Amino acid sequence: LVSLYNAFSKYLVSLYTRMLSVKKILEKEEISRDEIITLLSASNKEDIDCLLKTAYAVKEKYVGRKVYLRGLIELSNICKKNCLYCGIRSGNTKVTRYDMTDDEVLDVIEFAKANNFSSVVLQSGELCNEKFSKRITGLLKKIKSVTNENFRVTLSLGEQTEKTYREWFNAGAQRYLLRIESSDKNLYSKLHPNNKLHDYDERLNCLHTLKKIGYQVGTGVMIGLPFQTIENLADDLLFMKNFDIDMVGMGPYLEHEDTPLYEFKGDLLPLKNRFNLSLRMIAILRILMKDINIASTTALQSIDPMGRERGLKAGANVIMPNLTPGAQRKNYLLYENKPCIDDNADECIDCIGKRVGMIGEEIAQDYGDSLHYKKRQL
Ligand code: 5AD
Ligand code: SF4
Ligand code: FES
Repeated sequence: LVSLYNAFSKYLVSLYTRMLSVKKILEKEEISRDEIITLLSASNKEDIDCLLKTAYAVKEKYVGRKVYLRGLIELSNICKKNCLYCGIRSGNTKVTRYDMTDDEVLDVIEFAKANNFSSVVLQSGELCNEKFSKRITGLLKKIKSVTNENFRVTLSLGEQTEKTYREWFNAGAQRYLLRIESSDKNLYSKLHPNNKLHDYDERLNCLHTLKKIGYQVGTGVMIGLPFQTIENLADDLLFMKNFDIDMVGMGPYLEHEDTPLYEFKGDLLPLKNRFNLSLRMIAILRILMKDINIASTTALQSIDPMGRERGLKAGANVIMPNLTPGAQRKNYLLYENKPCIDDNADECIDCIGKRVGMIGEEIAQDYGDSLHYKKRQL
């Protein structure tokens, strides 16, 4: 009887919190899991506006109306993994594979410097072997020799050994992005082949290792995945908070025809809902983690031409313009409708400058380390 009573009162409490108005929740110091779920599920316009405005006010206060640019260089689309959602998975034989040479990368670095970028992200498919690891170490050293201490290199090269992560850190990489994709182990297993190459615990382990080494650590998830629930998304946000992450990049899941998950296309939320849910995820995260760097991702722009600007208005403060040379861009299609694949880097930079101005923000001139990371170091 006691347990029945407990269960019933728990139910009443959860019902009560769900009924609390969005506005009331946003006035609170601490937001609970149930309250996050309420915020994610808000359906009337007034509530949603209130959430986005609150997040923007937090952003203004803690990180300012500034946008940090990170030039994205998609080094190579060669990947040994086979994630069920990704267009460049090893099993997709339709992809023309490429690998930029060091000189090609260094040309992009020169271009980035000439355009006042103080930070780049090196991203590629996942390879974990000695040759790759040494190649990146060499490349990082070359980048270091042509940039100064006011330049930051972020890596997004997947799961690696601790030794490799350390070697890259010592060679000059300061930041690392490794999305957890979904913090729910069960959901993770539905998005990846069931083998040692795609192990949730291993991925989590990598995040811990990166933090231990001293990187500014970023993670993220996809939003609107097949089988994903609102509860999963609330837990994703709490995962980021509990992990005490420095940076986040998250965006809508976009189906790709040549992937196994495409089969579940019919079960997905409409694109517009995935987009709106992504904005809310950004907004709630900004409220939960006031001083971190949050990217307004390209996937947002794939759905809405003003997607990245709307991400900034929801609390994001980072944009990653694609600096990959035009010839390779069209081969790095993780998902369909990726924007700017016919544009070159000059056009993107002009375009982004104008877009940022349009929403009353400015492009920051400094390299913008995560303020959260800096506090963590004290
Ligand atoms: N839709 C959205 N994002 C995707 N990614 C990979 N495939 C997709 C997709 N179909 C994201 C993953 C990965 C990042 C590099 O791109 O989150 O970590
Ligand atoms: Fe490879 Fe990353 Fe795509 Fe997975 S998401 S297949 S690791 S490029
Ligand atoms: Fe690429 Fe606008 S950002 S053209």
